[in-house]
This record gives sequence, structure tokens and C-alpha cells, in this order.
Amino acid sequence: MSMREIFAQNPDRRYIMFGGKGGLGKTTFSAATAYWLAKQGHKVLVFSVDPQASLSDIFKRDIFGKGPVMIMPNLYAQEIDADQRIREYQEEIRQKIRDMYGMDEIPEEIENYIQAAAAEPAMEESAIFDEVVDIVVSGDYDYYIYDLVPLGHALYYLSMASVYDQWIDKITGLREEMAEYDQVAKVMRRDQESEEDKILEELQYIKHRINASSSILTDKKKTAFYFVLTPEEMIILDTKKAAGLFAKFDVPLCGYIVNRVIPAELSSQNIPPYLRNRMEMQTTYLNKINQIFSGEVLAHVPEFERDITGLPMIEEVAKALFGGM
Ligand SMILES: Nc1ncnc2c1ncn2[C@@H]1O[C@H](COP(=O)(O)OP(=O)(O)OP(=O)(O)O)[C@@H](O)[C@H]1O
Ligand SMILES: [Mg+2]
Repeated sequence: MSMREIFAQNPDRRYIMFGGKGGLGKTTFSAATAYWLAKQGHKVLVFSVDPQASLSDIFKRDIFGKGPVMIMPNLYAQEIDADQRIREYQEEIRQKIRDMYGMDEIPEEIENYIQAAAAEPAMEESAIFDEVVDIVVSGDYDYYIYDLVPLGHALYYLSMASVYDQWIDKITGLREEMAEYDQVAKVMRRDQESEEDKILEELQYIKHRINASSSILTDKKKTAFYFVLTPEEMIILDTKKAAGLFAKFDVPLCGYIVNRVIPAELSSQNIPPYLRNRMEMQTTYLNKINQIFSGEVLAHVPEFERDITGLPMIEEVAKALFGGM
């Protein structure tokens, strides 16, 4: 199987993700895949929640926090500003409390709670998740390519449904805390029943969104997850371990892409022993990769002479991944 065949045979897999340890080539392959699909005439969004603005680097455009930015016809890129989303959450919660209890000022205790909740990692994750859900359920694109952060975070993201449950618990908790203010608030509140319904409705809406998006992420028909690795001992071991973990989360793993392979044709040239040794070592590990992930390796991408930035270089990577335009 090749990447090209996999894409041709599974046109319904519109959610594409590249996973792997830090710095192996996830962003590079996300951009290259987006580029290739766009050239094939599909409307593509490649997006990231990485505050390090790596899509900005590879496309040589400042796109952080700017919504979807057109890179070329059919190709859009977006970098999500999670902190901005968290600030919006906080303000939403404040507004709800003001409306619901007819308060002008948020009581200090509750404000402290809102601040504390925003500092929690679960809150940031859920803010990111919420953005991702917004993007994914919008349905504006033929393909969505999610440029993931390194493996550990990706795993965390994929277990998000449970994190989101915690967030719901927090809202529920907040409601309970506010019961303390009930005596005061009752006087100001006009219609208790309908307010209660509103909150419940909101929680149900959130639940619905979780279910919708987590079912997309684990749906083998709609989602394709690719692992990036390099021919190095530790990376191979880590990848094997991670693949096992991903299986636990029901992530639809489609195959592996080996990056940074020193071009074999170099060996017929007059090259220094240093490079020859490195190439021999790589051959050993490439064989190992073929043994361990037999039949699931979809592409080998060469080590290029420099970092991948700008569309001409991205096109070279796309050719290595998909074999021509
Ligand atoms: N085949 C290659 N040849 C040359 N340089 C490469 C190749 N693949 C990736 N790079 C370079 O390696 C660096 C890391 O790649 P990339 O940013 O895609 O990794 P990543 O997995 O997204 O990293 P992170 O985990 O930090 O998000 C980049 O500077 C990229 O240009
Ligand atoms: Mg990256």
C-alpha cells in the first residue's frame, strides 16, 4: 500500500492526523499532505493548536490566531489561539452568572474560582478541544488535517472525551457553589424553572458535541491516523509502544511513514566514511522497521538538504509522500 492508494481507496476519510514524537516531521507531513490534496482539487484545512506557531514557520506566513488563512487556492491553514478561547469562556461564564442571578459584579469567591479553573490544564485542553470541534463540525472543507503536538499530548487529546466530562463536572460544581448565593439571588430571579432548564440544555449540548467529535476521531471510515518515525533505535521502540496505547483509545491507525532516510543512491558515490557508517546504521533500522511494522509502512521520505519551509520545498515532500503530483 502507498499513501496515494490509501487516499484513493478511502475518500471518506476526511480527518487526517499525523502522530509521533517531537520533531520527527508531523507538521511537515501535515503541510505536505494538505498541499497534495489541494493540488488534487480538494478544499483542505490544515490546522494546529500548537502555540509554537509551526504552521506559520512552514508556510512562511504569520497565521497565529487569525482564523483560516488561504495559503494557495484550495489550501487553508489555521493556528488556534487557545488562550483567547479560555478568555472567552471565562467571560461567558461571568455573563451567565450576571444574567442568571441579576448581579452586576461577580462575587470575589466566584471570580477566584473562574480564574483557578482557567489555569487548570484540563481547561486549556477543553478550550482546544472546543475549537477543534468547532472547526471539524463546520463542514466547510473536504479534508481536515490536524497537525498534532507530540505524542504524549496527542494521547491526552484523544482521551479528551473524559477530560470534557471533567469540565462538565466543573460547571455542575459551579452551579452547586452558586446555590450558596441562592437565598440572595432568589429575590432577584424571575423564573427559576426555565433557568435550570437552560443550564441543563447547555450541558446536553456540550455532551452532544463531545459524542459527535469523539465518534469522528475514532471512526475508521472518516479518520486516518498516520505515525511518523525515523530509522533510529529509540524512536522505533517508542513508536511501537505508542501504537499499542493508541490501539487502546481505538484510534484508527492507518500506517507508518519513515522520515529522514538518507538517499540510498549516495552510497554509490565517493562519500566520507562518516556518512557511509550512518547509512549502514539506517539500513539496519529500516530493516527493523520493516520487520516490526511489516506491511504497514506507507512511505519513506528522504532527508532533505535543508529544513522544509515554503511551498516549493513542501511540494518536494509531497512528491516523496505521494509519488508525484
Ligand atoms: N525529511 C526532512 N528533511 C529535512 N528536514 C526535515 C525533514 N522532515 C522534517 N524536517 C525538519 O525537521 C524539523 C522538525 O519537523 P516538524 O516540525 O515537521 O516536526 P514535528 O513532528 O511537527 O515537531 P513537533 O513535535 O515539535 O511539532 C523542521 O525544521 C523540519 O523542516
Ligand atoms: Mg509540529
